[in-house]
Amino acid sequence: MLTRPMHLTETDGTPMPARTPEHLAFAEDLAQAFKLRPRAISPKYFYDAEGSKLFEKICELPEYYPTRTERGILLAHRVAMAAEIGADAEIVEFGAGSCEKVRLLLDVLERPHRYRPVDISAEHLACAVDGLRKDYPGLDVQPLAADYTQRLVLPAAEPGVRRVGFFPGSTLGNFTPAQALQFLRRAGQALRGGGLLLGVDLVKDPQVLHAAYNDSQGVTAAFNLNLLARANRELGCGFALDAFAHSAFYNAPLQRIEMHLVSRCRQNIALDGQGHLMDEGETLHTENSHKFTIDGLRALALQAGLQPGPVWVDEQRWFSVHWLRAPD
Ligand code: AVI
Repeated sequence: MLTRPMHLTETDGTPMPARTPEHLAFAEDLAQAFKLRPRAISPKYFYDAEGSKLFEKICELPEYYPTRTERGILLAHRVAMAAEIGADAEIVEFGAGSCEKVRLLLDVLERPHRYRPVDISAEHLACAVDGLRKDYPGLDVQPLAADYTQRLVLPAAEPGVRRVGFFPGSTLGNFTPAQALQFLRRAGQALRGGGLLLGVDLVKDPQVLHAAYNDSQGVTAAFNLNLLARANRELGCGFALDAFAHSAFYNAPLQRIEMHLVSRCRQNIALDGQGHLMDEGETLHTENSHKFTIDGLRALALQAGLQPGPVWVDEQRWFSVHWLRAPD
C-alpha cells in the first residue's frame, strides 16, 4: 500500500495551514521514528486536543484503575500531604492537563500562594485554568505552556515562598529510566527548599495491567491510533488508519507496559518524499509505561538528590504517592 507523501500541502483540496515550529519538530521526529530500528516515537505526540480528550476518557474507563486509585489516595491522605507541603506554598504541577487532581490539594492547603500548571498543550491548559480561576478566586494561577520533559525553566521564586512540585498520574513512568532520573534531578534543583509530591503506578498482577491498556471500548486503541490521525491532520500525511492495529502488553523483565502500532500489511510509508517499507507485523513503538516498586522509586529519588519521605498507597497497593524533599 502506498501512502501519500507528507510534503504535500493539501489533502482533499483544502490548503494545509503553514507549518509551525511544533509541526516541523513533529514531522522531523516522525521521519526519524520510521528510520530507527526498532521504530519508536515519543509518547508526547499523543497529546493534541483530540488525544488529550481521549486520555480524559481513558481515565474514566472501568479497566483504567490508576486515576481513580490515585484520587482515592489523595482524598484519604491529603491532610497529611498538606502538612508536608506547608503553608504559603507555590504549587508547580507538571503535565497538569485538566488541572482536576490539584483541586483535592488546594481545598486543604494552608494559604496556597500560587498555582503554576505546566503542560505541553496550551489549548488544554487554557480551558482548565479558566475553571480554576472561577472556583478559587483568591488564588494566583499562572499557567505555563512548555515541554517540561526537555527543560524546566521557571521564573525565579520569591523569597520566603516554598516551591512544591506536583507530578501525579504516573507520567514519570512514560519516561525512559534515564529521562526519569534526569527529570527528578532537574525537579530537585527547580524546587530547592521545597519538595515534590509524586504519584507512580506500582508493579502488580500482569492481567490487571493488560486490561488497563486493552480496554473493551477501544478508547486506548483510538488514543494510540490518534498519533497517526494527528500526523494526517497536522502534516498532511496519508496514513491509512485501518492498516495499523493497537497492541499493548506487559514486558515483565523491564517492568513496563509497551504500546505499539502494528502494521496489518506490507506497506510503504512516504514521509517528506522518502519511502519507508513496513512489513506486516512490524511495529512503531509509541509508549512505555513503567511500573515501580516503592523501594525502587525511593532509590531512584535518592540517586537524583531527593530525600524520600512518607509514601501513601491504596489498600491493594496498586498505586503510590511519594513525598520527596528537595535539597536546601
Ligand atoms: C499519561 N500516562 C501516565 C498514561 C499511562 O498510563 O502511561 C498514558 C496512557 N497510555 C495508555 N493509557 C494511558
